[in-house]
Amino acid sequence: MTKGLHKGLTSYGDAEFSLFLRKAFIKAAGFSDDALDRPIVGITNTASDFNPCHGNVPDLIEAAKRGVMLAGGLPMVFPTISIAESFAHPTSMFLRNLLAMDTEEMIRAQPMDSVVVIGGCDKNLPAQVMAIASANLPAIVLPTGPMLMGHYKGEVLGACTDCRRLWAQYRAGDIDVAETEVISGRLCPSVGFCGVMGTASTMACLIEALGLALPMSATAPATHADRRRITEASGRRATEIAITDSPRPSDLITEASIRNAMIVLQAIGGSTNGLIHLIAIANRAGVSIDLAAFDQLSREVPVLLNLKPSGTHYMEHFHYAGGMAALLRELAPLLDTSVLTLAGTLADSIAAAELVPNQDVIRSLAAPLKPEGAMAILHGNLAPNSAVIKHSAASPHLLHHTGRAVVFDSVEDMAARIDSPDLDVTPSDILVLRNAGPKGAPGMPEAGYLPIPLKLARAGVKDMVRISDARMSGTAFGTIVLHISPEAAIGGPLAIVRTGDQISLDVAARRIDLIIDDAELGRRLAEWRAAPPPRDIPVRGYARLFEDHILQAHEGCDFDFLQRKEPGSGTS
Ligand code: FES
Repeated sequence: MTKGLHKGLTSYGDAEFSLFLRKAFIKAAGFSDDALDRPIVGITNTASDFNPCHGNVPDLIEAAKRGVMLAGGLPMVFPTISIAESFAHPTSMFLRNLLAMDTEEMIRAQPMDSVVVIGGCDKNLPAQVMAIASANLPAIVLPTGPMLMGHYKGEVLGACTDCRRLWAQYRAGDIDVAETEVISGRLCPSVGFCGVMGTASTMACLIEALGLALPMSATAPATHADRRRITEASGRRATEIAITDSPRPSDLITEASIRNAMIVLQAIGGSTNGLIHLIAIANRAGVSIDLAAFDQLSREVPVLLNLKPSGTHYMEHFHYAGGMAALLRELAPLLDTSVLTLAGTLADSIAAAELVPNQDVIRSLAAPLKPEGAMAILHGNLAPNSAVIKHSAASPHLLHHTGRAVVFDSVEDMAARIDSPDLDVTPSDILVLRNAGPKGAPGMPEAGYLPIPLKLARAGVKDMVRISDARMSGTAFGTIVLHISPEAAIGGPLAIVRTGDQISLDVAARRIDLIIDDAELGRRLAEWRAAPPPRDIPVRGYARLFEDHILQAHEGCDFDFLQRKEPGSGTS
């Protein structure tokens, strides 16, 4: 088998010359022949001044390199793009597939026998796992780890559940601008990803459950010594799998492990974004996610993790309570614990889990935080393909609700009118946002958490039913229906809702419906198709690629040409 520097030679039509040239150039960096004969472990570098969630990546790279060298390998660090949630325009989701392509192709293009992918902020980990699933080189994932908890006036804070809660207080007039400036210095007290069960934490937990990362790697705080020890161990393990050429991601991402991940997603009160990413990852590995089965799990798997926004604690608490291994122990009766992981099997990780007495973070199946799982899949005439609601973080009294639609045609329309004193809206209305899906916005912004209209917020309204084809942050709380598919921009039924229509949400029955008869629905859809509203179509570059190939939310928002193809279809 071709290994190390001999892999993937640059094409000059003379393989020996290609190797000779490669060695000549790499020796410019001072490498010895002994070093160059070692198994090569690639390490991704996603450090960026624009991405504080990856602010510890340079330190982690040093620890990973140490681990690689202790095990006799040669670490080779290479850059990829880096996506920070609040610095990505128009959205981080718009760029996820670009990072996945970049990472996959750099793994393929450069001679490495295994790879450590280091990422944290929301879209990076899913993109990196999509990449390793497609490249299928032995790989280990290393999350950057959650940031420390913040404190303000004796209260514990965590980005970004508390960002939203405090911003809602500001909008309601309970705190002033000066106070928001102080609070913005307290919400994120260290580098690392958001410390609640947002998308980054969700993905780190799913990745550990999938066996793609070492035990405790999801939860160790970004600045904790544990994080560096796990990183060193990840470097060591990366060298071992480089030598044995196994396991490969295809050995780890299987039907059984994906089902385990779906159970974990329900039990941790995970981010709705996590579902989109898990679908994309599974598709890359040739496993298709059955949304009906996922919804069934929501009725069978309770939420066990007492973390914000579904519960009260933070990722740091989760780590000290035993981390994912301890959670998996509680879930063991529901899981296939025989699945392979980078640390042996899931059963091995569970057997080694710490038992922490008197903790309240990880609940048991006998005494869960919520009797049902985090999120439900909805269908109905408004969502023929599907929609999702995180009902573990919703208001129970709104889960069965019929109300009058107040429609916003776009994110811009919503921003322009939502706070107008003239907006005709009452607390029992249903706020509708459309043209905010994968193509419509584009990039499916996290605008599904529509703010409560100012005049209602100031009157003390904390929650309303809100529905859209957008996403929302996993850190948000509210009765919010998301990912309506097909999206309005391609003619999904959301496109034909009118202000004043009645909409019915019934989460127990898993329904979201526009209350009009089928003939009227058909007539409005035909009208829309005959004259769809004009939309800006990008003419060039990545934006055009995105427009032409992005899939809908229920398909994981991957590009159609990046999904796994069967052998013989002309792609690997
Ligand atoms: Fe990076 Fe939350 S903003 S993980």
